[in-house]
This record gives sequence, C-alpha cells and structure tokens, in this order.
Amino acid sequence: MASLSPTHAQTHEHGGNRVRVWLTCAMAALAGLLFGLDIGVIAGALPFIAKDFQVNDHMQEWIVSSMMVGAALGAVLAGWMSYRLGRKYSLVLGAALFIAGSLACAFAPDPTFLIGARLVLGVAVGIATFTAPLYLSEVAPGNVRGAMVSAYQLMITVGILAAFLSDTAFSANGQWRWMLGVVAIPAALLLLGVLTLPRSPRWLMMKGRVDEARAVLDSLRPDSETVEQEIRDIAKQLEVKEHGFQLLRKSRDFRRSLMLGVMLQIVQQLTGINVVMYYAPRIFGLAGYSGHQAQLWGTVIVGAVNVLATFVAILLVDRWGRRPILLMGFTVMTVGMGALGYLLKLGISTHNEQIMAVAMLLLFIAGFAMSAGPMIWILCSEIQPIKGRDFGIAASTFTNWVANTVVGATFLTMLNTLGHAQTFWIYAALNAAFIGLTFFFVPETRGVPLERIEENLMAGKPLRQIGR
Ligand code: BGC
Repeated sequence: MASLSPTHAQTHEHGGNRVRVWLTCAMAALAGLLFGLDIGVIAGALPFIAKDFQVNDHMQEWIVSSMMVGAALGAVLAGWMSYRLGRKYSLVLGAALFIAGSLACAFAPDPTFLIGARLVLGVAVGIATFTAPLYLSEVAPGNVRGAMVSAYQLMITVGILAAFLSDTAFSANGQWRWMLGVVAIPAALLLLGVLTLPRSPRWLMMKGRVDEARAVLDSLRPDSETVEQEIRDIAKQLEVKEHGFQLLRKSRDFRRSLMLGVMLQIVQQLTGINVVMYYAPRIFGLAGYSGHQAQLWGTVIVGAVNVLATFVAILLVDRWGRRPILLMGFTVMTVGMGALGYLLKLGISTHNEQIMAVAMLLLFIAGFAMSAGPMIWILCSEIQPIKGRDFGIAASTFTNWVANTVVGATFLTMLNTLGHAQTFWIYAALNAAFIGLTFFFVPETRGVPLERIEENLMAGKPLRQIGR
C-alpha cells in the first residue's frame, strides 16, 4: 500500500480548483435532473400512449411502474458496482443506460417492449440516485456539502418541471415518442461529462491507491495542507470497516436506525406524491378539465409549485429544524388530499369548484415539497452510524423505489374499485397518521454533529431523542 505522506511535496498548482469543484458538482446535479426528467416525463406521455396502443388502466399502471421496479434493482446493483467499479464508472454505465433506455422507449413497437425499455431506464435511474449523491458527498469540500446535497434535490424537481414543459410542447400532435426520446440528449451530456470527472478520492483510498487519491484532491482543494488533512481523515474513517450485514446481525441499535430509514421512505411515498407526479393529467380530468392542453398546462403548474416550494424547504431546514417542518407538511397534505376528496364526492361542475379542486391539489404539492420531499432524504443520510452508512442508505433508497412502485401500480385500480373520493381520503388518512409517526419516532437533527447522533443511537436512546 502506498504511503500516507506526500511523495511529491507541497509543490502543486491549485489554481482553477474552484471551477473544477463546481464542474464536478454540475455533473452530479445533471444526474439529479435526469432523475426528475424520467419521473416527470410519463405523466404527459401516458394519455397518448394509452390511445395509440389501446391499453387498459392495468397495463398503463405497468407502463408507469416498470421504471420504478428497474430503479429498485438499479439501487441494489449500484451498491455493489460503486464499490467494485468505483463511483465514476458506475455513473458512466448509468448514463449509457439512460441513453439506451430513452431511445428504446421512443422506438417501442408495442406496450410490452415499452415496459421492458422503461425497466432498463429504471435501472439507470436507480444507479444514478444511489451513486450521484454518494460521489457528491465524497468530492465536495466539507463546508459546501449540505448545500450541494440540497441542490441535488432541487435539480430533481427542476427535472420534473422540465419534463412537464417538454411534454406540453410535444403534445399538440400527440408526439409521445419525442417526449420519451428527447431525454436521451441530457443523458448524452451526462455521459460526456462524467467521462471527464476525476475518480472519487475516498474510493481510491478504499482501494489502497493513496497517490492517485492525493492527485485528485490536489486538483479539487485550495492548498496542500487541506489535501493532507483530508487524506488523514479518510484513512481514519476507513479504519472502521463497513460491514452492513454483520452490523445488522450484531447491533440492535443499527437495526433500529435501519428501520427508521426504511419507515421514513415508505412514509414519503405513501403521502401519495407520485400519484400526482405520474397521473396529474388524469387528476385534472377528474377535476373537470377535459382537454389535453388544459390538463398538460395544469401539470406544468404542479411542476412549478413543486420547484418553488422546495426553495422554501432549503431556506427553512436549518432554521426551524426537521420535526416542525414535517409536522406542518403532513398537516397541509392531509388538508389538501382530504378537501380534494370532499370536492370529488360533492361532484365538480362549476368553474369555481374546478378552481378549488386545483387549489387543493397545489396545496398538497406545496406541503410535500417544503417538507417530506427534501427532509426525508436529509434525515436518511443523517441517522445511520458510520459503519453501516452505505448499507443503511442503500436499504432506505431501495425501499423508496419499492414503495414508489406500489403507489404507481395501484392508483388507477384504486380509483376504479374504491371510488374517486375514497382514494384521496385514504391518502388523507395516511398523511394524518404520519403526523403521529413523526411526533413519536422522528428525531430532531438540526445542527447536531453526526458523531453525536451515532453516540446516542448506540447508547440505546429512543429514536426520537437521538438528536439531543
Ligand atoms: C421523491 C420522489 C418524488 C419527488 C417529487 C422526491 O423526494 O423521492 O419520489 O417524485 O420528490 O419532487
């Protein structure tokens, strides 16, 4: 193994490092954008696909959900790949699959092929959603790490909005193939971009390639002193071997934090957010907007509110803390879903009633975007002990996609069998229940060092108190 002391002295050029850091992060953010594009693109395309291929609701649910099944597989695969191939080449593979999947969707000759193509696309999404934030947290300097991870979240919502806009642009002639295919362009940019990225210094150190790690850090950090300090820090962290499974068997406390992460992600999906993201035009239809154009513009407004409210979350998260924001968010979402159900029960016929229904839908979206959207991802990255962090985050990310699949694959069936109002009331009731869950189980981690959270967890404190 190479030595930890600098072999080529303190004589490196550190000019232009800031640009390099930003370019690096811009690439990872592009991965977030693609994630959002692929979540958003199906909403506008689905009505046209359904018409072209003459598929029933059940088949539509599978066209939507096959991507999420792929993403769950991709997240597991990425855990292994990012260790074997490294973060950089996992991202390269993810980007290549993004291109292949998007083009395959665009040229799909029948619904079954389309489902297969979306499965491949999903694997790309799963790889990106696991690897990009990991890479980001390993190359970003400590003082901007939080901002970078938030920026990644924001890019997801921007991607969703961009997809809704592009869908609307292609909708005049019902060109769903263009809607799905155009995503290959940013995917190609990502591929070119990641090829120029440096490898993750932490991964290089993990593989014993200390000199290469030092060279990468030299190109990213302002001075040699910072580089050497970081090399020492990483080496110290690596002394703690990360054995997720063993720790899971041995430590009851790790099982608790793992369960909390898994529960948080299930909660995030059962709010019903993706019912709106995937089926927004259909929901606008229920609210009395029958034209494709009106439904698509409504969907664009949903995307815009989602972006704007995410800004609010980013501003508030370190001032108010996680718990108050989540409690407020679930309350707002309960009201939004409940009132929408009520309006559907009464029957929406007048213009005013239509406006009210849309307002309630937007209230729900704003409630999600300023709370559970970003907050759950932040919490999941904060609560795991260092030894089990990769494993814990992989498990909760995997759960996010499984729960996402369940929601996407059942919505139309719920509408058809339980009724419109009842479907939204079920989501309202779930959101109400999450107020209680947050109250009893979610810790406040605002401003608390990760080491402290770990100490409390491992000392057996109740989950709600591990941030004290
Ligand atoms: C969720 C996605 C959702 C998105 C909406 C994310 O935090 O994990 O499932 O589609 O927010 O903005």
